[in-house]
Amino acid sequence: MTMATGFVALNASKQHQLNKSFDSGPITTIIGRQTIEYEHPTMFRRLKDCHNVEDLRLLAKQRLPGPIFHYIDGAADDEITYQRNTSAFDDCDLVPNVLAGVEEVDMSVTVMGQRLDLPIFCSPTALQRLFHHDGERAVARAAEKFGTMFGISALGTVSLAEIGEMISTPKMFQFYFHKDRALNDAMVQRAQAAGFNTLALTVDTITGGNRERDLYTGFTSPPRLTLKSLFSFATHPSWAMNYFFREAFELAELKDFVQQGSNVAVSIGDYFAEMLDPTMNWSDAEALRAQWGGPFCLKGIMSVADARKAVDIGADAIMVSNHGGRQLDGSRSPFDQISEIADAVGDDIDIILDGGVRRGTHVLKAIAAGAKACSGGRMYLYSLAAGGQPGVERALQNLKTEIERDMRLLGVSNISQLNREMLRHR
Ligand SMILES: Cc1cc2nc3c(=O)[nH]c(=O)nc-3n(C[C@H](O)[C@H](O)[C@H](O)COP(=O)(O)O)c2cc1C
Repeated sequence: MTMATGFVALNASKQHQLNKSFDSGPITTIIGRQTIEYEHPTMFRRLKDCHNVEDLRLLAKQRLPGPIFHYIDGAADDEITYQRNTSAFDDCDLVPNVLAGVEEVDMSVTVMGQRLDLPIFCSPTALQRLFHHDGERAVARAAEKFGTMFGISALGTVSLAEIGEMISTPKMFQFYFHKDRALNDAMVQRAQAAGFNTLALTVDTITGGNRERDLYTGFTSPPRLTLKSLFSFATHPSWAMNYFFREAFELAELKDFVQQGSNVAVSIGDYFAEMLDPTMNWSDAEALRAQWGGPFCLKGIMSVADARKAVDIGADAIMVSNHGGRQLDGSRSPFDQISEIADAVGDDIDIILDGGVRRGTHVLKAIAAGAKACSGGRMYLYSLAAGGQPGVERALQNLKTEIERDMRLLGVSNISQLNREMLRHR
């Protein structure tokens, strides 16, 4: 059955069921046996009307040239893992306790020795000044305002030094292990000098994922000027003006070392294949931990065996993550995997659930299942594209409000009271 509706407030976690409809035109979603088509709601054109991640996603889609939107929104192969990362939460129900007398709610957590006012932080993501001209500056300031951690990517577009000066709240530097050891050493030294609190080594990008949306759109970094891309820039003049007439795009920590940090357009897949070291192993990770000397995290752990090895090499945390479904399609979702890992190493290492989080209840389910905190990428990237710093603040405020409300409804006043008794898997 197909229904044409002007406005359907989609459950954010139904976003994963969207077909790969590129750019404008009606969006199709399948709910049960019904196929629902709806037009982009014009009421989403303002930030203040965005009440959830899906609203912000639609606003981002409206504001960004197609290739850039699909770089954020897309994932690997058939995007099955990407979809499952969020839908996994739907297969688990919450069992609330009532008459619990919840007056004050404390949602703070401590992860890797860092106290966070929110139980979710901003995962490191690449190329942020492509999405909004303020890029990492906007996300860092918004994260500081909410007292949560800001993660910056090795492929960041603002320097570590500048971020270090700008915010005083916890900061994570995400490290890619390059073939060029001098580049690796320089990155570690710069992160240390800039006062970054934690270092996360990404371990799931030994090669690039097959991101087919990027193949269709021809996405490169920086954007390559072709007839097709010029058309998409021309139809998004406000983005184009900001991109072309403000500060030049660059990969701040790579630019002095390689062509890929410059204005030569490359695909992200080529960057992974050409520059990252595919021989990276556990000894390299252990040596990096020692070189860093501070709180150290492995980002992209999925198996219990690897979680145990992370403990063995002295890591302080693991991010249970499949890179937001952008690498190995068919990989299990972080939420499906979290209890197994928590049972094995939960007492020995901080476990962070990374990926798929779109609602406050997702955060609470992940923590009840054994995570210490959550992190997410798209939950703030859509909002960065939709509205810069106020957009990211909107996204974090929406999640904070949901978490606070949901804790009250669950009958808990403190994050530490969440436990498996409150979960039932269908
Ligand atoms: C546009 C985009 C760029 C990303 N860039 C990086 C990166 O440079 N380094 C990294 O370790 N992870 C990167 N990630 C993965 C995120 O850190 C995170 O694992 C993922 O977004 C979690 O899934 P979610 O978007 O569903 O929250 C990126 C994700 C997106 C969506």
